[in-house]
Amino acid sequence: MRLGNPTMLASGILGLSAESLGNIVMAGAGAIVTKSVGLKPRNGYANPTIVQTSYGLINAMGLPNPGITEFVKEIHEAKSFGVPVIVSVYGFSAEEYATVAKKAVDAGADAVELNVSCPHVEETGSEIGQNPKILAEVVRKVKASVEKPVFVKLSPNVTNIAEIAEAAAKAGADALTAINTVKAMAIDTETTVPILSNKKGGLSGPAIKPVAVRCVYEIYERVKVPIIGCGGITNWRDAVEFLLAGATAVQIGTAIALKGPNVFKKIKRGINAYLRRKGFKSVNEIVGLSHCS
Ligand code: DHB
Repeated sequence: MRLGNPTMLASGILGLSAESLGNIVMAGAGAIVTKSVGLKPRNGYANPTIVQTSYGLINAMGLPNPGITEFVKEIHEAKSFGVPVIVSVYGFSAEEYATVAKKAVDAGADAVELNVSCPHVEETGSEIGQNPKILAEVVRKVKASVEKPVFVKLSPNVTNIAEIAEAAAKAGADALTAINTVKAMAIDTETTVPILSNKKGGLSGPAIKPVAVRCVYEIYERVKVPIIGCGGITNWRDAVEFLLAGATAVQIGTAIALKGPNVFKKIKRGINAYLRRKGFKSVNEIVGLSHCS
């Protein structure tokens, strides 16, 4: 897959309607990843589903989505924006992942990203992505059902992310997205109870950036498939850090909620200015460069 620039919209932010995806493309994203979609519609959890902390957001939405059959029309519309459309997919079994992925690709998705890392919905997400055998089975089934690239979005909530990355790569993953959110919670000191209705959620934003950079670095040392860096990127310097760690592209999510869609333009320009100042001709020249020292 070729991108006009190395920035993409991360899954989960503004990704349920084609209209909001269009705004992100206008703002300069090189590709867009939708909110995760499953086989059947899901309402998600009751409010509150999101809480702001000093350095990031904790969310537990509960994978709300209209189901892939209904979502097909949003994929069709998103295709008209002229950048690759990557559909994030979840399921409750390997077969379900494969079925949803096939429907997404048949509707025009340029790639699918497997959400095997949602930190709190039972029997999907990280319950799959924390187990190399189950993960490999999901990746193999999806690979057998679609002829477009399959990205696997990894959970940081594991002891050894490189081992999980290797299992995904051996099963045929075309790219690895690192990382999904970090399992977290917040408690209201006045009411004395957890703030989110689900109690636990996923932390995103600047707080998780150093964790994500370390994960990308470790994966790059172990596997040869392209890595898409994700986690707390808010400015061009953050993006460059991920490229140096070994990512070939980056995804941006929480920064849009905190600073608005213009972060894409600023980050793109910042990366280009950095490359020029340092005498590099392309992004490729700095991918993994931190490993040379
Ligand atoms: C949700 C899904 C995720 O993959 C994540 O990291 C956080 C929240 C959700 O839909 O609740």
